[in-house]
Amino acid sequence: MSGALVAFPTETVYGLGADATNASAVARIYEAKGRPSDHPLIVHVSSMEKISRWAREIPVYAISLARDFWPGPMTLVMLRSELAKDFITGGQDSVAIRVPAHAIALALLSEFENMGGLGVAAPSANRFGQVSPTTSKAVEEEIGEFLFEGDLILDGGPSLVGVESTIIDCTSSTPKILRPGAITREMIEECIGQSILENTNSEIRVSGSLESHYTPKAEVILGAMAEPGEGFIAFSTVKTPDGAIRLASPATIEDYARTLYAALRSADAQKIKRIAVLQPEGDGLAIAIRDRLTRAAGKEII
Ligand code: TXA
Ligand code: MG
Repeated sequence: MSGALVAFPTETVYGLGADATNASAVARIYEAKGRPSDHPLIVHVSSMEKISRWAREIPVYAISLARDFWPGPMTLVMLRSELAKDFITGGQDSVAIRVPAHAIALALLSEFENMGGLGVAAPSANRFGQVSPTTSKAVEEEIGEFLFEGDLILDGGPSLVGVESTIIDCTSSTPKILRPGAITREMIEECIGQSILENTNSEIRVSGSLESHYTPKAEVILGAMAEPGEGFIAFSTVKTPDGAIRLASPATIEDYARTLYAALRSADAQKIKRIAVLQPEGDGLAIAIRDRLTRAAGKEII
């Protein structure tokens, strides 16, 4: 990897990776994304045994979470070790770590570790504020022009989960969910045997917490039926209004998450101006979907 960038598939979304110990390689991630340099990155490793390199004072509940949900769509924020420099953590005393559940991602991480690598820093492979890519083609469209010879985009097909990992703050005595995802609050509570907080107004900076994020060019309208010529996203049980352009008709909540970002992208590709979305109701993964949709619509999360 030695200073190069590698975009790679994960089960959540595609990441744009670089050697997490190499300041100039990591600087290229920020350049390609157009992301402010104080926004921290997630360090990806091949197994939970590797986290003690990057984190200190790892709480017992974090070990339980790692055992139950890694490899998987979960990121743990823990107090950082000496290895996690400011250019990874945005100057904070914590570091975010994830073991992704994707054969190609794990092969890349293991190979890199066999060569002496310690971890791969990777944000989602989109330009800052845009929709995360869930295919290699979407990565190419987002950041292709910022890649040099020697950089790579690995193709692993469409991401199976489709929304970014659940981020859990593990820096205090009880965990807090900073970003909802496919590892739901119920799953976390069952794993650690206590109830926890979700979407707290943490002091910790999570770039996904900026109000307008995951935004397509089209305007996203929530809770409305589409007018003729507008895009429409709703469960398959809802009929497409006359003249509207159906962008996704998921049958299940998992389908909804999996197809959402591709649907938003396809609206932009078709130059659709407005997208009307009927959001999923309920808990679990629906919370993560509504979180992303609310941001896509540029609304404040309360
Ligand atoms: O599913 C995912 O998490 C994908 C795949 C590629 O792993 N990655 C991803 O990365 O979504 P990114 O950079 O787009 O979002 C990671 C979020 C950012 O909002 C960042 O602020 C937050 O993680 N983060 C990173 N380090 C943190 C820290 N020390 N404390 C709090 N938040 C942190
Ligand atoms: Mg992102």
